[in-house]
Amino acid sequence: MSTLSEHVLEEIRELPAKYPQPRSAVMPALDLAQEEAGYLTAEAMSEVAAALKLDPGYVEGVATFYTLFHLQPIGKHRFYVCTNLSCTLRGANEIVEHVKSAIGVHEAGELSKDGLFSYEEVECLGACEYAPVMRLDHRYERDLTPQKVDALIAQRRSPSPASAAEPPHPPGSLRERGDLPAERGGEKPKAKPRVRKPKSG
Ligand code: FES
Repeated sequence: MSTLSEHVLEEIRELPAKYPQPRSAVMPALDLAQEEAGYLTAEAMSEVAAALKLDPGYVEGVATFYTLFHLQPIGKHRFYVCTNLSCTLRGANEIVEHVKSAIGVHEAGELSKDGLFSYEEVECLGACEYAPVMRLDHRYERDLTPQKVDALIAQRRSPSPASAAEPPHPPGSLRERGDLPAERGGEKPKAKPRVRKPKSG
């Protein structure tokens, strides 16, 4: 029995036609696989390779190179908190500390005890005017405060019937969905967030 659903595999098979170089489809394909499986198992990577007709070693090489692909279980809900300059000046570090304390983890990538949450610090999300900003479940959450973070966590711990009925994979390129208002030049997520490397020392 395959790890990935036939629906997702079909989406992956259709990806190469969208790129000048079929190999370019590997990133969005891994993204799809990760969204469905939660993280990239060896079986999931192998199925991606087969669906794209690529060498499994190449697919695994891409998956292991990029920090946004996870080879271990991660939270169902992932906080991608921007800690670039504008957000830091408006309290991003406080938000990070609050997220850590609220979900009970000590470091980026660590899974909360209930398996629901993890967090990453990321580079600029392109929405500096709404700082501090983070992405959570494919939505941008802006003008963050500890209270807003608490409310977001509470919603996910006890989802309402309406939110539970939302499709798990909203449509859009790389499953990114713009949730900022179009007025004021509302920036939409342009790409996957770039995870900040852990600080050394
Ligand atoms: S610095 Fe955080 S969105 Fe730009």
